[in-house]
Amino acid sequence: MIAMQLLNTTILQLILLILSRTSASFSMKAPSSTSSYLADVPLGAPDPILSIIDRFKACPSPDKVNISIGAYRDENGKPWILPCVRAAERLMLDSPTETKEYINIAGDPSYVNLALKFAYGEKEMDVLGAKLAAVQTLSGTGSLRIGGEFLARFSKAGQKSIYIPNPTWGNHMAVFAEAGMDVKRYRYYNPKTNRLDMDGMVEDLRNAPEGSVVLFHACAHNPTGCDPTHDEWKILSDLCKEKGLRVFFDNAYQGFASGDSEADAYALRFFVEEGHGGLMLAQSFAKNFGLYGERVGTLSVLTGGDEERERVLSQLKLIVRPMYSSPPIHGSSIVRTVLSSEELRKQYYGECKQMSMRINSMRTILVEKLKEAGSTHDWSHITSQIGMFAYTGLSGDMCDKLTSEHFIFLTRNGRVSLAGLTEANIEYVAKAIHAVTDGKSITAE
Ligand SMILES: Cc1ncc(COP(=O)(O)O)c(C=O)c1O
Repeated sequence: MIAMQLLNTTILQLILLILSRTSASFSMKAPSSTSSYLADVPLGAPDPILSIIDRFKACPSPDKVNISIGAYRDENGKPWILPCVRAAERLMLDSPTETKEYINIAGDPSYVNLALKFAYGEKEMDVLGAKLAAVQTLSGTGSLRIGGEFLARFSKAGQKSIYIPNPTWGNHMAVFAEAGMDVKRYRYYNPKTNRLDMDGMVEDLRNAPEGSVVLFHACAHNPTGCDPTHDEWKILSDLCKEKGLRVFFDNAYQGFASGDSEADAYALRFFVEEGHGGLMLAQSFAKNFGLYGERVGTLSVLTGGDEERERVLSQLKLIVRPMYSSPPIHGSSIVRTVLSSEELRKQYYGECKQMSMRINSMRTILVEKLKEAGSTHDWSHITSQIGMFAYTGLSGDMCDKLTSEHFIFLTRNGRVSLAGLTEANIEYVAKAIHAVTDGKSITAE
């Protein structure tokens, strides 16, 4: 018996010895990156917007304010999960039909259909349904990228140019360039007047070669907060038709411009009515549903009908499959649950309006506080702009000073994410803006 116990102990010690040797030899054999190809990988530049968040987190000042990122914050400066989204999640949790199975390549057809109705209009979809080739995507960025890949593959020779506004959302350039498009800019904003540069825009689009693609922000232009009026959209629509320009709408803020997602769909629906064949739409539910990290979007292409729709859809699926196989389902199920319930949908409209109104009130208060701080500049562009941002006209140096001297974090183009302002910090921000602009011109660079 004792001999058996001794033998067992010896075997155990032997196993432990072998294990410790093996793990020691693993660490000894770990490759040194300097001797591998990784040694030649250059350090990539940090993302200009997302890196601000890291610097904000690292800043020890109790006064610090983050007005850089385009994400809604409530009146206490906290992220807000829409109550209708929470209600939908509760319903989903108890529903026997919600699973964690793979969805097909093009996504959840019920979600896609509801998303399209949200953008193109409920009634309009009776006619458009059979013409829209659409896939569920990874939010707005994913839909722009799939759209860019599609355009790069199927645009005729010499027609791979895409015109994006100057200025525009910082990622547009990279998304389309990486997709293989030839990215060009058109004038959009006049820094001298702090208003839309309609003449510049028309001139640049008139000079664009036939068959080029034009990217428009469907509403609440980022970063300028300036949208064309209905009359100006008509001019742009006529011009695109006359010049044979293909139209791509980026619809990332539906509901944030006016607080009413139906009114915000005006430009898209008008262009569809005007018969812009091949029109493309990238849709995101990040901002208007507060589903930033859920990555919910769609890409749709307006085709001539059944047969063309089938061909286009088949190609969109061929782009998606080797990229990420199929989209995630949690966020799209939330949107589907909200939009398919009369009660939750009504609640949603109210909550979207609530976000938009809080942001709008920050515009007015910011301008009031700037005046109270003693600023004599004309800040009226801030209150006439719409959407999530104020494009202040502050120069890069002024923005740097706001960060280094006042711990206010924003992008260097002078864009203020109004959702980052609250009643508690707005006076501090206004005084700081006055301090860095006093006696200096405030036209954007
Ligand atoms: C104009 C515009 N398009 C698209 C996006 C993409 O957003 P997401 O990929 O989070 O839906 C953004 C995000 O800020 C944006 O401002």
